[in-house]
Parts: sequence; C-alpha cells; structure tokens
Amino acid sequence: MKIKLVKDSNPIMRKRSLPVELPLSKEDKDLLDSMLLYLKKSQDEKYAEKHNIKEGIGLAAIQTGNLKRMFVVYFDTGDEHVEYQLVNPKIIESSIKKAALQNGEGCLSVDDPHPGLVHRCFRIKMEAYDALTNQNVTIDAKGFKAIVLQHEYDHLNGMFYYDHIDKKNPDLKLTNEELI
Ligand code: NI
Repeated sequence: MKIKLVKDSNPIMRKRSLPVELPLSKEDKDLLDSMLLYLKKSQDEKYAEKHNIKEGIGLAAIQTGNLKRMFVVYFDTGDEHVEYQLVNPKIIESSIKKAALQNGEGCLSVDDPHPGLVHRCFRIKMEAYDALTNQNVTIDAKGFKAIVLQHEYDHLNGMFYYDHIDKKNPDLKLTNEELI
C-alpha cells in the first residue's frame, strides 16, 4: 500500500478518528504494516534523501487519510527499542508532572516551523490492542516515549503538537516540568 502523507492544511486532520473494529480486518492490518514500513524507510538515510522524505518515528492513520484510531511508532530511546501498531489506544493514567522536549517537536504532516515547548505529561499509561504482537497491551511510559505516544494519540483527536505551545511564552518552562 502506498502511503501519501496528509498535511496539516487539510481539514480532515482536525477530525476525530473513529474506533477500529476488532478483530482487525486485513485492510486495516495492511495499512498498519505500510505505515510501519514507511517509518523504517524514513530512518534509512539514503532512502529518505533519494525520495525526499522526512525522518519519522510515529505515524497516525489519519496522516495517511484514514480516519481510524490507530498509529504506529518505531524508535530507540537509547535503552529500549519501541515498536508498536496500536489500535484503539486509551490513556488511562497521566502524571501531574510535565515534560517537554528542549528542542520542540516535529511532525510528518507539518512543514512550517513551530518553535516552543510542547507541554506534555511526563508519564502516561496507555491501553491498546497491539497488532504487531496480536495482544492487548498496557504501556507504562515516561519521558521521551511518553511524549511520542501522546503526540500520536493527539492525532486521533484532531490535535497537533503546536496546539500545546503557549503562543505568548513559547519557551517558558512550567514549574513541574522536566526538559528532555
Ligand atoms: Ni505528528
């Protein structure tokens, strides 16, 4: 399946994605596989340069034009390899402590720069069906991993990372916030 990225100028990106029926259809599993492959290729420097694509570590179905509550992530945190095909994810716990990436966030659907701290929860617990391992999972994530999961989860609700930037004080760190 060929992936064509939808950009943030497209109003569909502001829509709330719809729950996915389980067991997963072949069509939905194929889409998740294509999305994951896209991320892997985007991290291959030669491939990315040749095809002029941006490196990505997460991708939501809506970014491929499919209004479905699922996303894939693929990255290493340094001490953990993170790879999921999450379907119908729910955030069941979130910390009061906040976190933000020092250098801000980016998105495969966003071309314009939006500098500033993207305020997130430092730690979250997420429940979902993982189509990669064919099981229900509860993910206890903190720091960078928690931030990536929240970024992708936001896409399912029509939100972008820049919605969380304080326009008046984009670089102001919150008192209970850890910069990563
Ligand atoms: Ni994104």
